[in-house]
Amino acid sequence: MTTGIRAAAGLRGKALVDGEFLFTNDDFSAIARMLYEDAGIALTETKASLVYSRLAKRLRTLGIESFRDYCKLVSGSEGISERQNMLAALTTNVTRYFREPHHFEHLKQKVLPELIARAKARGRVRFWSAGCSTGPEPYSIALTILDAMPDAANYDIRILATDIDPNVIATGRAAVYPDEAMEPVPAALRERWMVRVKDKGRDAWGAGEEMRRLVSFRELNLMGHWPMKGKFDAIFCRNVVIYFDEATQARMWSRFGPLLNPGGRLYVGHSERVTATDLFETDGLTTYRLRDGIA
Ligand SMILES: C[S@@+](CC[C@H](N)C(=O)[O-])C[C@H]1O[C@@H](n2cnc3c(N)ncnc32)[C@H](O)[C@@H]1O
Repeated sequence: MTTGIRAAAGLRGKALVDGEFLFTNDDFSAIARMLYEDAGIALTETKASLVYSRLAKRLRTLGIESFRDYCKLVSGSEGISERQNMLAALTTNVTRYFREPHHFEHLKQKVLPELIARAKARGRVRFWSAGCSTGPEPYSIALTILDAMPDAANYDIRILATDIDPNVIATGRAAVYPDEAMEPVPAALRERWMVRVKDKGRDAWGAGEEMRRLVSFRELNLMGHWPMKGKFDAIFCRNVVIYFDEATQARMWSRFGPLLNPGGRLYVGHSERVTATDLFETDGLTTYRLRDGIA
């Protein structure tokens, strides 16, 4: 065995992160490979401690003694549901109401006037929050629409909210948020369109009927088949592709393009950039417009 190969073999059996469970390079590589295959999420070794701490909880819950055994479980047919739990544990679900508020201002000023006119003329208007997490993003779209068009829920206006993680979809459907989560929501909007509820004995805010009628939640993996038939007027895919590699990001832009109506908008996260300049032109900060003649 050459020195290099021996060193690599030694490293594979050595702890990558110090802790209660042995977590080696091989374990990390196996988990990273599964996450990439399942969700398109590209993990680098700088995330090893994060992976360890998030999954150590799963090992404890399951009474599994090593990452090696855990990897064996999630790679086999017995471990399909645990593989889903692993995915949920490794995805980042951070979100908040009116995150990157300039997007909602742009929507209100530049996009909604034409769409509201179309809806009032009995046309169809659709939004997609792709990677919606627990719901504040699609509900912020709903609140922006309701603010501009209070009877919007009576028209053919809908917001599709999708995510790979069934837990966040369930939270979005339940639509109950603690008071702290409501801070970015203007009081007038909150009081008009949301309701006071109790959540585990604590005061909280729940989405009102109109918000619920506007938003539909579905589980959807962006890496898989997209069953939607109709086109969208705006897609919000913010702080999602940041976890994908460049090739996967490029695939996303080329799949979003044909799903947009002429002049449709694509909103991305503050650190994301749409590189498909053949399809999209810049229309504001991290906001893109489908080029004329594409749809
Ligand atoms: C950081 S959150 C962003 C939430 C929201 N868009 C925002 O900006 O506040 C990223 C979300 O993307 C979801 N996600 C990651 N990979 C995905 C995939 N392959 N398909 C669908 N959703 C995915 C995660 O589950 C997570 O809820």
